[in-house]
Amino acid sequence: MSVQDSLDALEHLFKYDIEPARVAAIIVEPVMGEGGFYIAPPEFLQALRRLCDQHGIVLVIDEIQTGFARTGRMFAIEHAGIEPDLMTMAKSLAGGFPLAAVVGKAHIMDAPGPGGLGGTYAGSPIACAAALAVLEVIDSEKLCERAEQIGRTMVDTLRGAAMSLPAIGEVRNLGAMVAMELVKNGDAHQPDADLTKALTKRAAEKGLVLLSAGCTGT
Ligand SMILES: Cc1ncc(COP(=O)(O)O)c(C=O)c1O
Repeated sequence: MSVQDSLDALEHLFKYDIEPARVAAIIVEPVMGEGGFYIAPPEFLQALRRLCDQHGIVLVIDEIQTGFARTGRMFAIEHAGIEPDLMTMAKSLAGGFPLAAVVGKAHIMDAPGPGGLGGTYAGSPIACAAALAVLEVIDSEKLCERAEQIGRTMVDTLRGAAMSLPAIGEVRNLGAMVAMELVKNGDAHQPDADLTKALTKRAAEKGLVLLSAGCTGT
């Protein structure tokens, strides 16, 4: 599916299912995580930004998997050069310490009155201290550059292996967020869920944690 196909599908939704004036927000992952590591093209995200501006829709970028240097930038949305209205973050935010955050433009973030936003674990001081340490480490250990290097090494290795292994389909990445498709008969349209399960199991037995993702039975 091309960028234009996706935008046409959205226009179709606006025309036949819901008028854009009734859409509060569009939420998108810059790299789809559980859905299979599909990288949103910058021109698609830029078009979404224009569409949201045009119709007064809040653009929410979910950086829960992609944030904090994983894709070679602090946040993956930087690759597209646009500013979201809101951003969600968790996972790497505090280096594994339980912490999640929503950040965004002041006119939205400051809209709830005092006491209008709460949560059982909101603002845990220890988790916040861990998150501050994470920011320092990302900076001092240059983890954005490191993510680019790791991504390049993995992609070169996997594409090299694909030359002699037809079971390896597309290899794609944004920084260190790398996916390798496993397919049957060397055909990109025949995902091999059984091989994926067998490979992740065997890797775990050998001490390597691999995660499968996608919507085709993995
Ligand atoms: C992209 C993405 N968004 C949202 C979530 C949910 O995050 P949380 O568990 O912090 O609510 C996850 C969790 O895996 C995720 O991967």
